[in-house]
Amino acid sequence: MTSVSLPPSLVATLPGNIYADPGVFAQEQELIFERMWFAAARASELTGPGAFVTKQVGRENVILLRGRDQQVRAFLNVCRHRGARLCPAEEGQLRRNIQCMYHAWTYGLDGKLVAAPNLTKMQDIDRDEYGLIKVHLKEWLGYIWVCLADEPPPFETDVIASADERLGGEGVIGGWQVDELAVGKRITYDVKANWKLIIENFMECYHCATIHPELTEMLPEFAGGYAAQAFVGHGAEFRDDAQAFTIDGAGGHERIPGVDEDHDRRYYAITVRPQVFINLVPDHVIFHRMYPMAVDRTVVECDWLYLPGVVESGADLSRSVELFDRVNRQDFEACEATQPGMSSRAYRSGGVLVPSEHHIAEFHEWVQGRLLG
Ligand code: FES
Ligand SMILES: [Fe+2]
Repeated sequence: MTSVSLPPSLVATLPGNIYADPGVFAQEQELIFERMWFAAARASELTGPGAFVTKQVGRENVILLRGRDQQVRAFLNVCRHRGARLCPAEEGQLRRNIQCMYHAWTYGLDGKLVAAPNLTKMQDIDRDEYGLIKVHLKEWLGYIWVCLADEPPPFETDVIASADERLGGEGVIGGWQVDELAVGKRITYDVKANWKLIIENFMECYHCATIHPELTEMLPEFAGGYAAQAFVGHGAEFRDDAQAFTIDGAGGHERIPGVDEDHDRRYYAITVRPQVFINLVPDHVIFHRMYPMAVDRTVVECDWLYLPGVVESGADLSRSVELFDRVNRQDFEACEATQPGMSSRAYRSGGVLVPSEHHIAEFHEWVQGRLLG
């Protein structure tokens, strides 16, 4: 933080090195991404027994895999023999088991060691003990959340409470039936920016009038610079003549049945630390997951979720996808424009937050608290 005294309108940001120093990023991986719940995959991607995806979680690579009993399990993607990466692919379909390419140690879909050359001659090897290392896992909103900590924090207070707090009531998010929705579209963005810049951008709307003409037209109050995230329980109202949250305000779909009148024609945004953003509108949900890859690189996977009937009917989703895809590109371009400045001497002691951004200071305090352990 800057030591210069600031006028009351301004609050200091974090110093630039917190966004640019690989050493800080390594600490964040250890103290944030490897300790907290991390939304790794959509459960429906794991279509049946043997279907898997692999994901970067902190410094680890994790396999998420559906077993023959239909259960999803998560394992570290590391062979117990000499440490080779087991599944090099990002997704795929296994037959009956996973076999390591190096010396052919073979694991069942439940992670147990089932075979290895000469294994029968080594009667003292316990096949559970030398099975794959399990990772804690929960399913919520149709996503598989994993936690690398030995003792994960309580899911209710660490994850679910963020949605309850933002929406101003316990279980309010249940109205959108997110777990039952189908993925109508997924777009993956490779953003050359630190993950915190993306979170901070998502938390404020001071930039909306400058870079989001389409979004500001849809949600007129955004022109004032105050984000839906600045007030508990508040959703930004659609402009009067818009029928739906789409690029031109037309071409919406049936309202999700659980969404009541009070939440109709409004946009809600939730940040679930450390890597999820959820956007709720009456007929779809836009669900972002960040995968921090390096201090200056973050992969963002964004799903557009609709009622299954809407997706199955082949309805035109392009108008709703286009609106938030544009918003994403506008945001990520701004984050990428900011990243080089983080290493500049101009930003050695950071920048400043204006009143409509002051709530971001709480995020900064949270990050600092985590880094101090
Ligand atoms: S490292 Fe996997 S079998 Fe040897
Ligand atoms: Fe934005």
